[in-house]
Amino acid sequence: MIILGIETSCDETAAAVVRDGTKLISNVVASSAAMHAKYGGIIPEQAAREQVKSIIPVIHEALTTGRRSVATIDAIAVTVGPGLIGSLLVGVETAKTLAFAWNKPIVPVNHLIGHIYGNWIDNPSPPKFPSLVLLVSGGHTELVLMKGHGQFKLLGATRDDAAGECFDKCGRLLGLPYPYGPFVEKLAREAKLPIANSQSQIKLPRPLVNSKDLDFSFSGLKTAFLYEFKRNQHSLSDEFKSALAWELQSAIVDVLTKKLVLAATKYPVKSLIVVGGVAANKKLCEEMTREANKLTIPLFIPPINLCADNAVYIASAAFFNYKPVPWQQIDADPGLDIKRPS
Ligand code: KG4
Ligand code: ZN
Repeated sequence: MIILGIETSCDETAAAVVRDGTKLISNVVASSAAMHAKYGGIIPEQAAREQVKSIIPVIHEALTTGRRSVATIDAIAVTVGPGLIGSLLVGVETAKTLAFAWNKPIVPVNHLIGHIYGNWIDNPSPPKFPSLVLLVSGGHTELVLMKGHGQFKLLGATRDDAAGECFDKCGRLLGLPYPYGPFVEKLAREAKLPIANSQSQIKLPRPLVNSKDLDFSFSGLKTAFLYEFKRNQHSLSDEFKSALAWELQSAIVDVLTKKLVLAATKYPVKSLIVVGGVAANKKLCEEMTREANKLTIPLFIPPINLCADNAVYIASAAFFNYKPVPWQQIDADPGLDIKRPS
């Protein structure tokens, strides 16, 4: 089955063609990040305006680079949420229009669940179930038990800010460019180790790291970072800034890793999955790999280009959770979530 995926939940406009949920045929992503970089963050109205302009060219490019005629497309998959309402509407209404005009089935996809399927692309040995999923993006930090395709149970989530949000706000404070997370990682790499012997002696908190539940909290870490930054505001050396970035990254990685390990001790699983934009972080990947090896549970993290938002995993998620809905019943849902069991 050939699925055309469409993704516009944030500032990317993405389309992809995927065969049988696993074989990447084409992948096109247009980003308005350069425009947002000027303002230091996403301006939702501007993002949506750019998406309106680029959605048809992006879909056209996905079809032509994949050498696919419309006739060979079996279904359309589209992200319906969560995300920015104006951005979501561009993808959803375009997908509905094409489904109507081309007379194709349309499958609504939850963006968060979509991220997970980056691990099924061109992977001859995909994750086995049950699986523990750590989802770390700009707006979400969640631990999910995946018993099978379409069987998700939310085990824990952030009580306030997401890990990505923490990277972003602290990166902004450090004066780094948008999109902040990768630049925090780059700055942290420049830190002179060991940090304990440097001028800084910085120690940031690891919120909820020893709590017995599977929840997260990053707003206190953000505040602690702000105080540490302000305390040293008048003598901010490059060395101090990189040490601060290193300690921030360590604190976030420590919490995420320990919580995934705790979840693995509570739930016997056959695989561990880490997805979302923050899964592109190398230090997070290294620590997760170390812990997964100790637990002797296979770990899956998508290749870096499939960690960031794209339509490939949206098409894949639609294949493995194939529930077409009449186009009249599909709406953008910015607050869509993975629900805790009641
Ligand atoms: O999944 P994603 O691309 O978009 C959302 O659905 O939110 O995640 C974006 C988040 C941002 O907070 C970004 O700073 C973070 O992922 N991110 C990183 C890295 N690359 C992206 N955070 C830390 N290190 C990175 N290398
Ligand atoms: Zn995302």
